Amino acid sequence: MLDTYNDRWALVTGASSGIGAEFAARLAGRGMHLILAARRTDPMNTLAQDLLTKHGTNCHIVTVDLAEPDASRRLMEEVEKLGVNVELLVNNAGVGRIGEIEGTSPEDVQRMLSLNILTLTDLTYRVLPGMLERGHGAIINLASVAAFQPVAFMGAYAASKSFVLHFSEALWAEARSRGVTVLALCPGVTRTEFFDVAGAPGWLDKHTSQTPFKVVRTALTALERRRQYIIPGWRNYLLSLWVRFTTRRTAINESKRYFRSGRKNNRTSED
Ligand SMILES: NC(=O)c1ccc[n+]([C@@H]2O[C@H](COP(=O)([O-])OP(=O)(O)OC[C@H]3O[C@@H](n4cnc5c(N)ncnc54)[C@H](OP(=O)(O)O)[C@@H]3O)[C@@H](O)[C@H]2O)c1
Repeated sequence: MLDTYNDRWALVTGASSGIGAEFAARLAGRGMHLILAARRTDPMNTLAQDLLTKHGTNCHIVTVDLAEPDASRRLMEEVEKLGVNVELLVNNAGVGRIGEIEGTSPEDVQRMLSLNILTLTDLTYRVLPGMLERGHGAIINLASVAAFQPVAFMGAYAASKSFVLHFSEALWAEARSRGVTVLALCPGVTRTEFFDVAGAPGWLDKHTSQTPFKVVRTALTALERRRQYIIPGWRNYLLSLWVRFTTRRTAINESKRYFRSGRKNNRTSED
């Protein structure tokens, strides 16, 4: 568990927008100093300036493409140069890919899996031993409500989040008796740049969504309660249970409706 927020350091990946930027703001509000990592430097600079003015937060910015092999090692070298211990790691950087099989670039999928799975796993294994040695610390890994079932038209993304959920829960069980907690955060649809980047621009406008503020607030409460996973919002929680009360086939076919809008000729005989 976190020793304390105050004057401790958090490493937040994907801090240039959305849920990651919100984590940075909330953690700064609780007195933490921050290492912010993402590819876009300008929004992180703006955020850092704002947090310095509001809370006196020390922010160290690392501009890095975390889908590249070896990026997490280089990021941790930057952290070591600072000479601080990471009390909280928020493995938030992630992307989705939404679309038809034929329109999906294998290279894009590979980069997505590298970011969502390999980098998150590598950073976790680089940071966790120090936390265990000190007997305190916490990790929040961004999974998704999509982790609970296969999702048509974003199969590789949903599967990557199943990995994050299962990996994080296993580590939670291993680490909790040694003072360290690991939380899998499983948001539903959240109002960020995610769907635009994923290849479904405008999709978010037509669907119920949560704000990053609510998602992060729920996550920090769950972290303090040492929960192993949390799904913000009761609708999303019910969605995660749905797959248990129906057949897997029905759940998969139903998932096709999520990303149906904007697609043509997508009805099939088994619908
Ligand atoms: N929004 C949702 O509905 C939703 C639902 C469930 C789970 N999630 C998860 O929540 C996390 C945050 O997403 P978000 O919704 O906040 O979306 P977002 O606004 O698009 O933020 C994604 C963040 O990841 C960073 N990122 C992307 N590719 C990167 C790379 N190659 N190297 C380093 N950083 C990279 C982006 O920064 P740069 O572009 O500057 O690199 C950005 O800061 C993701 O793991 C996502 O899977 C989102």
